[in-house]
Amino acid sequence: MEITSAEFVISNSRADMCPKTNLPEYAFIGRSNVGKSSLINMLTQRSKLAMTSSTPGKTLLINHFLVNKEWYLVDLPGYGYAQRGKKMMDKIKKMIEDYVLTREQMTCLFVLVDSRLSPQNNDLKFIEWLGENGIPFAIIFTKADKQSTSKTNRNVELYLKTLQEQWEELPPYFISSSEKKTGRDEILNYIESVNRS
Ligand code: GTP
Ligand code: MG
Repeated sequence: MEITSAEFVISNSRADMCPKTNLPEYAFIGRSNVGKSSLINMLTQRSKLAMTSSTPGKTLLINHFLVNKEWYLVDLPGYGYAQRGKKMMDKIKKMIEDYVLTREQMTCLFVLVDSRLSPQNNDLKFIEWLGENGIPFAIIFTKADKQSTSKTNRNVELYLKTLQEQWEELPPYFISSSEKKTGRDEILNYIESVNRS
C-alpha cells in the first residue's frame, strides 16, 4: 500500500474524547521504549510524525494520525513504566484499558514486543487480557536489527511456543526494524487486507 498522506490529528488523555469518526484505526501498544512511535514513523515514512526518545516514557497520551485520509494509526503510551510513579502508571493503565475496551473502530491492536527478549510476564498478561476481552490483535517483534536474523528467529519461535500453550490459534505476527525498515510492506499489506474485509 502506498502512503500518500499522514498527518497528526489530536492528542487525548481520555478515550471518550478521541475523534468521533467511523474510520478504522490501528493502535500500537507495548512496554515503554519498545519502539511504538518509531514504528509509526517508519510505516508512514515521516521521521518526525510521532515523537520518539531513547528515554522510556516519551508518549503519555493517545495520539491519532490520519493516513491517506482513510484510516488512523494510533500511538499509545507504553505500559509498565514505573519511573514516573504509581499515580502516573495507574492513570496510563486506565487510559489504555478504556481505549482498548471502548474504541469500537479500533480494528487491530498491534502489540509490540522486543525481539531480543524472552517472553516477558507483563506482555503475556496483557495478551491474555486481550483474549479475555475479545480484542483483535497482532504481535510485532521490534528492533530486529539489533541482533542476528537467526537469534531473532529463535526468539520468535520461543515466543510462539509460549503463546501456543495458552491459545489454540496464533495471532498474526510480524518482525520489524524501524532502523532498517524491515516489515513495512508486511504490516501495511496486513492493514490493507483488514481495511478491505
Ligand atoms: P514510549 O513512548 O516511551 O512508550 O516508547 P516507544 O515504544 O514509543 O519507543 P520509541 O519509538 O520512542 O523508541 C525508543 C528508542 O528505541 C529510541 O531511541 C528509538 O530510536 C529506538 N528504536 C525504536 N525502534 C528501533 C529499531 O527498530 N531499531 C533500533 N536499533 N532502535 C530502535
Ligand atoms: Mg512512544
